[in-house]
Amino acid sequence: MKKIENILCIGAGYVGGPTMAMIARKCPDRRVTVVDVNAKRIAAWQSDDLPIYEPGLKEVVRETLNRNLFFSTDVDKAIEEADVIFVAVNTPTKTFGQGAGCAADLQYWEKTARQIKRCSKRDKIVVEKSTLPVRTAAAMQRVLSAESDGVHFEVLSNPEFLAEGTAIADLECPDRVLIGSDETETGLAAREAVVDIYASWIPRDRILTTNVWSSELSKIAANAFLAQRISSINALTELCEKTGADVTEVARAIGADSRIGPKFLKAGVGFGGSCFKKDILNLVYMCESQGLHQAADYWRSVVTMNTHQQNRFVNTMLTAMFNTVAGKRIALLGFAFKADTSDTRETPALTVARLLAEEHADIVISDPYALENAKNDLASVGDRVAYESDPHKAVEGADAVAVMTDWKLYGDIDWQRVYASMRKPAFIFDGRNFLDHAKLFKLGFHVYAIGIEPKSHF
Ligand code: UDX
Ligand code: UDX
Repeated sequence: MKKIENILCIGAGYVGGPTMAMIARKCPDRRVTVVDVNAKRIAAWQSDDLPIYEPGLKEVVRETLNRNLFFSTDVDKAIEEADVIFVAVNTPTKTFGQGAGCAADLQYWEKTARQIKRCSKRDKIVVEKSTLPVRTAAAMQRVLSAESDGVHFEVLSNPEFLAEGTAIADLECPDRVLIGSDETETGLAAREAVVDIYASWIPRDRILTTNVWSSELSKIAANAFLAQRISSINALTELCEKTGADVTEVARAIGADSRIGPKFLKAGVGFGGSCFKKDILNLVYMCESQGLHQAADYWRSVVTMNTHQQNRFVNTMLTAMFNTVAGKRIALLGFAFKADTSDTRETPALTVARLLAEEHADIVISDPYALENAKNDLASVGDRVAYESDPHKAVEGADAVAVMTDWKLYGDIDWQRVYASMRKPAFIFDGRNFLDHAKLFKLGFHVYAIGIEPKSHF
């Protein structure tokens, strides 16, 4: 197969944008185009004000933009010119009809497949980047080969494992790249052509190749395992709070076992982000569709535990603050679903803010990068919520501070000044267990963390 020169990605989101920028950086001899139906997003990628915040991304885009990285809204033309097409359109959880609340909504994906079919006059490799249910490639192949006109499409799966906040490092030096293809002659040739792109900077032994179905399922399985570890440690937190065990010490002790390992054992207010919940529910739906109810229940419990952890956080606040937060000023420090991103999809902070608003609290939200998204997410909550980028102003006169995102700046804040400016008694709820609780207690705060006995002056 001839070398791939024209690479296209459909979907300029959190995955498509950074991934293609990295490919453009590492493959200066290839032309990389990213298209999207959202003209505003495309314009933002071409500006200094990128549509997403991701450390190090600006530098990569600045280096490659209009050299061999191009952003456009002309999807038809870009498809026609491409040798390989990565599809990274969103596949959210279905909100209607069969499988609502669980199955993946594949409408954008199918629309894109039909558009690829309509605009292709020569053979193409189509690569699934979006996370999809197992065997989606077979459906894609059917759409692409309906009314065959001699154009051949090879459908591959190449899921993305980058995590937001560390996307550039993850893309530069991934644990592995996974490429699934049919094991036919044309499938293997297409696989090799895509391997060749990544081999420009990634050692070959880190590029894993499998059949398409294993690749599709591995992406969902990896996210399910990571989320399951978080729910497992969170499932110990209530017991810790009641018994005097400290979950951070338990995590350190079990994580020192090399069979368990130390990562993804941080207890907190629960996982967020666009992937974990969506992918697990997708897995649950696939299991149920196959009549595998026990497996479905097992994976569903990971999400159930996560929801419980978020609700529980608000219950702790209520109980600590004399069973009422009505009219009390509560500052939420951080709204992004994790540090170093502006992304707020499925952020636990949203659930916490909504529950506090139901309790008639006056909420002030602070975040260094996610305030715009927070305003959109909380539009329906109305004037119970205020937004303040300066954390010191956000906490002024507050009865309680709840740390929702482990932004480094909240660790470095002058907590003495914070304490002085708050109404007393002053409560702090550390949803990420990353502050110095002993120091805060000494300053006068009543300190509530997760999986650690509260430190109260009462
Ligand atoms: C992507 C995948 O869609 C998701 O399945 C996977 O789990 C993670 O990676 P992400 O990049 O985070 O998600 O999604 P998003 O930021 O929403 O970007 C998707 C882009 O596709 C949007 O900019 C949207 O405008 C675009 N899109 C969507 C199209 O260009 N055409 C469409 O028909 C639909
Ligand atoms: C995840 C996967 O890590 C990535 O491989 C996949 O491609 C997309 O989904 P992402 O959602 O960007 O990435 O971030 P991740 O670092 O996995 O964190 C997800 C959530 O789990 C965050 O809300 C984070 O705060 C939380 N988390 C993570 C914990 O609560 N405890 C931990 O120990 C680790």
